[in-house]
Amino acid sequence: MRQNSNSLVVVANRLPIDDSVAPDGACEWRRSPGGLGSALHPLLRHTPAAWVGWAGGTGPAPRLPDIDGVRMHCVALTAEDLRDHYEGFANATLWPLYHDAVEQPVYHRRWWEAYQRVNQRFAEAAAAVAEPGGLVWVQDYHLQLVPGLLRALRPDLRIGFFLHVPFPPPELFMQLPRRAELLRGMLGADLIGFQRAQAAHNFAQLVVKVLGLPATDRRIGVDDRVVRVGAYPVSIDTAEMAALAGRPDVTARARRLRHDLGDPQQVILSVDRMDYTKGIEQRLKAYSELLASGDVKVRDTVLVQVAVPSRERVGQYQILRDRVEREVGRINGEFGRVGEPAIHYLTQPFDRAELAALYRVADVMAVTPLRDGMNLVAKEYVAARVDDTGALLLSEFAGAAAELEQAYLVNPHDLEGLKQMLRTALRAGPDDVGDRMRAMRAHLHRHDIRAWARSYLSALDQTGSLVTRLGSTG
Ligand code: ADP
Ligand code: F6P
Repeated sequence: MRQNSNSLVVVANRLPIDDSVAPDGACEWRRSPGGLGSALHPLLRHTPAAWVGWAGGTGPAPRLPDIDGVRMHCVALTAEDLRDHYEGFANATLWPLYHDAVEQPVYHRRWWEAYQRVNQRFAEAAAAVAEPGGLVWVQDYHLQLVPGLLRALRPDLRIGFFLHVPFPPPELFMQLPRRAELLRGMLGADLIGFQRAQAAHNFAQLVVKVLGLPATDRRIGVDDRVVRVGAYPVSIDTAEMAALAGRPDVTARARRLRHDLGDPQQVILSVDRMDYTKGIEQRLKAYSELLASGDVKVRDTVLVQVAVPSRERVGQYQILRDRVEREVGRINGEFGRVGEPAIHYLTQPFDRAELAALYRVADVMAVTPLRDGMNLVAKEYVAARVDDTGALLLSEFAGAAAELEQAYLVNPHDLEGLKQMLRTALRAGPDDVGDRMRAMRAHLHRHDIRAWARSYLSALDQTGSLVTRLGSTG
């Protein structure tokens, strides 16, 4: 069948929408800011496009309007699916395993059954929506079986798969009771994209070891097909974040925030989902020791820690939140003064303008995950520093470190190293900070989200027509 690459179906665990309340009190759906939805927006609105995903919640699928011309197809999840697929196999088995097992992965046979069942439902929804010979782009670890299931249902399609999180080395992946099935599922794709070359290498090694297939880091032979593999580091809408951060109201808001923080000499900021992969506890320990040694003083320096609760019914996340909040309380109790906390701790979601203002106020941005597929916060901070100031303290274990080489790079497991690098970033002179920031900003302007989508889709779409559209709409 001829390839019809004018049509694209994105399949992701979540739909790129939020529900909100309209001025008349009615519930309405709108495009959620940030992330993949924004990345693909310029492409999708000029293309016959559909998005298959979950709208959040359980029970029957809500009837959704098209959003910016993109058809939204909701996959319904039951309470049991949510518990065993999303909270279970996706976020208590695969998530910790893929992030270096910094928490113990949990294996339950019931969770695997749910993973298969939900992947089948997503594959059927995509098969029902895709046009003959169309392109389907499957996203992330929740849906690793979908490429194989979809190929069985619709061999006419051209199928891409992209993993947003790290792909672990063989010695970790080999723990998985259903490792062969997961690899075979991914191999249903024509192109498998990872964030980093190391992940592609790990995958190829596993395919040889577990499935006995001929594989290099770029090509794998499966039956009569060749599956291509590559690294496509995801990015952000750099120009959009820079424009937002440079707006007069955002600049004024940043000034106001600094004032409200007590006009300290230095503001350190961290913005994370409340996740054990983000290294929040290690960062707090380093900060606490710097306060105790007098290297950092409360009136001169403040830490703003934003930590939005995430996956709140998963036990490991509940334990983490309790521990972080206890530690923040302890540090503030020990080092804060009346009206002058050592840490400003915020768990609220912010709109993009408020986030941009926070980035503008931060002299040092501490992004210190123990393992992260990419870490978009690091890139957003760089994009927001429109005056080329600001020091980025960045973990070597974030995918972003492979690109933002001029950051103050750190191993977050090394407490002394973390303290030392935080001190270095706090004391760095304007020339050093400026040189580093300029280089990182230049990189991000070249390697933005559209460049990412263009490079992945041009490798997937052999006719090139979809990518031509992306080029002309970006
Ligand atoms: P992850 O995908 O693991 O959550 P990333 O750093 O790659 O981590 O992406 C997080 C995204 O969530 C970023 O786009 C960031 O701006 C956004 N975000 C994080 N915290 C907040 C918050 N408090 N309010 C709004 N958006 C947030
Ligand atoms: O980075 C992986 C990821 O699954 C993202 O795709 C997502 O935006 C983020 O983590 C939050 O996860 P969840 O969908 O579980 O809230």
